[in-house]
Amino acid sequence: MRKKMVAGNWKMHGNLSENEQLLTAIIPALNELRNSLLAVCVPFPYLSSVQHLLHNTNLGLGAQNVSQFEKGAYTGEVSVSMLSDFGCKYVIVGHSERRMLYSESSSVVADKYIAAQRGNLIPLLCVGETLEQREAGITQQVIQEQMKAVIDKAGVDSLGKAIIAYEPVWAIGTGKTASPQQAQDVHAFIRQGVSLQNSNVANDLTILYGGSVKASNASELFAMPDIDGGLIGGASLIADDFIAISRALNN
Ligand code: PGA
Repeated sequence: MRKKMVAGNWKMHGNLSENEQLLTAIIPALNELRNSLLAVCVPFPYLSSVQHLLHNTNLGLGAQNVSQFEKGAYTGEVSVSMLSDFGCKYVIVGHSERRMLYSESSSVVADKYIAAQRGNLIPLLCVGETLEQREAGITQQVIQEQMKAVIDKAGVDSLGKAIIAYEPVWAIGTGKTASPQQAQDVHAFIRQGVSLQNSNVANDLTILYGGSVKASNASELFAMPDIDGGLIGGASLIADDFIAISRALNN
């Protein structure tokens, strides 16, 4: 069965006391929600403290990046097994900020996805087009290339143990949200593409929308048939907003 999910992407925000305040506010409110997966993806240094705060809650722990390599001389990198040591279940791979600011190619993203699955982490694979690409009418081509890079290397069946996040780059952190129909169209395109290769995997695939999801627009986005939840940046740092967005999915 297709699962729904709301995941917070804290990006490079927070500190020990802010994180504790935020989680202490959201954990009791989210504990009553049973119809979806819930998670927060936090900066590496806080994995341990957040792991403890999330103990015995229904909120899963995730990281925002991972090395494609198992171990070795990779200064500054963090491996899948290190994330597992701190109870991570999820890891974001291919976020547009990593693709653009750190030049991660679709091929490297695919390697990270494979490494995550090999270590039993669930990759949250982000795909999405820039404004220029949308205006040039090549949104589908871009999404297809990003999906193909992973499917070619990892196989379509691997999507049975992954979550996709469609995040139009022009909507991330800009306050401009894709309209429910714009998002739905791309989600349906992703699912149809997977369906050509394996319809069961496509039916069960959780596809999140990300890009300026707020308490005020979550319900209409989540009402679309191929939108199975959200990857939430800015609004995941505000307790009331993250709670409201999670409730919108569970209604
Ligand atoms: P945003 O970020 O909700 O702040 O737009 C979403 C994301 O980048 O995952």
